[in-house]
Amino acid sequence: MRYIVIGAGAVGGTIGAQLFKSGHEVVLVARGAHYEALRNDGLRFITPDSDEVLDIPAADGPIPTRDDDLLILATKSQDTVSALDPWPRHLPVVCAQNAVDNERTVLRRFERVYGMCVWLPAQHLDPGVVAAHGHPYSGMLHVGRYPQGVDELSRQLVTDLNKGGLVGLDAPDVMRWKYAKLLSNLGNAVDAICGHTSGYEALHERARAEGTAVLEEAGIPYATPGEQSQARGNKVDIRPIEGIERGGGSSWQSLAKGSGSIEADYLNGEIVLIGREYGIPTPANEVLQREANRHAREKLPPRSTPAAELSALIDERSAAVSR
Ligand SMILES: NC(=O)c1ccc[n+]([C@@H]2O[C@H](COP(=O)([O-])OP(=O)(O)OC[C@H]3O[C@@H](n4cnc5c(N)ncnc54)[C@H](OP(=O)(O)O)[C@@H]3O)[C@@H](O)[C@H]2O)c1
Repeated sequence: MRYIVIGAGAVGGTIGAQLFKSGHEVVLVARGAHYEALRNDGLRFITPDSDEVLDIPAADGPIPTRDDDLLILATKSQDTVSALDPWPRHLPVVCAQNAVDNERTVLRRFERVYGMCVWLPAQHLDPGVVAAHGHPYSGMLHVGRYPQGVDELSRQLVTDLNKGGLVGLDAPDVMRWKYAKLLSNLGNAVDAICGHTSGYEALHERARAEGTAVLEEAGIPYATPGEQSQARGNKVDIRPIEGIERGGGSSWQSLAKGSGSIEADYLNGEIVLIGREYGIPTPANEVLQREANRHAREKLPPRSTPAAELSALIDERSAAVSR
């Protein structure tokens, strides 16, 4: 199998690097300065144990494809459609992303779609450089066919992931894992807007409580926190890397890079959407979605709004929706 990683940033760069290091054929697809750096200098891939430059083939758009190609989509969810658009639709696609809408969006266009639940703390702030903080493995990845099941291809991918510094797991119920991950990702906006200050837990908990309520009402299953920590065990601990500060999660990185967009419509926005479908108010997620988008649009630096201010906006919205 040849792995074509579309969006070779923090997650895509790490998966591509680990597959490449364990002997697989990999192509990294990137754009702009990151693509130039990959093409000219290779990928600098840094983990708690290593710092190396990998000469992985890079492309800035579609390449001639082969029958054994697998597309690993690792862009933010807001880039899913534009990133996949130029690729031939007969190829299988794995959504190595947070959120739960990508698989359905891709299945509208591509015949064979796989979900991947990504537990992989990584950072990509500078062109050509990806740092993966997970230890002893860079990440844990549940993989299954969308909407459910496993097949020969997903099993092959899991086998290949396990050959390197990653933990791959067959997951016939992959979306159940991805909905559980969605609940933890409801805190991404809080991390990006205010950081892990004293108010972080309370804000995340308000968003998570709404998330749990709408999933329950909609009858959408999700893995429990116990199942998740049991699966993860101590395989993916976050370790410091000398000289590389782990600033924050992927939404924090969007603000830190001033990229102008953020994934909130697909994280908090997913809970808002289901809440609206079922008539359940979701004021905390509405405010987080709105404020994260505003911070991205206005290119505000990360963690520029105090938790108390965000909390007051949620209180105000809660009062308005309960009137
Ligand atoms: N980072 C983490 O620790 C982490 C952990 C678990 C899950 N995730 C999830 O993994 C997914 C990817 O996140 P990430 O943090 O890896 O993001 P990222 O570092 O920003 O990487 C995504 C890459 O895709 C590129 N891209 C976007 N559109 C493209 C296109 N049309 N063609 C080529 N490249 C394109 C981006 O380029 P530009 O920079 O030019 O936009 C960026 O380099 C998200 O769903 C995220 O929530 C992240």
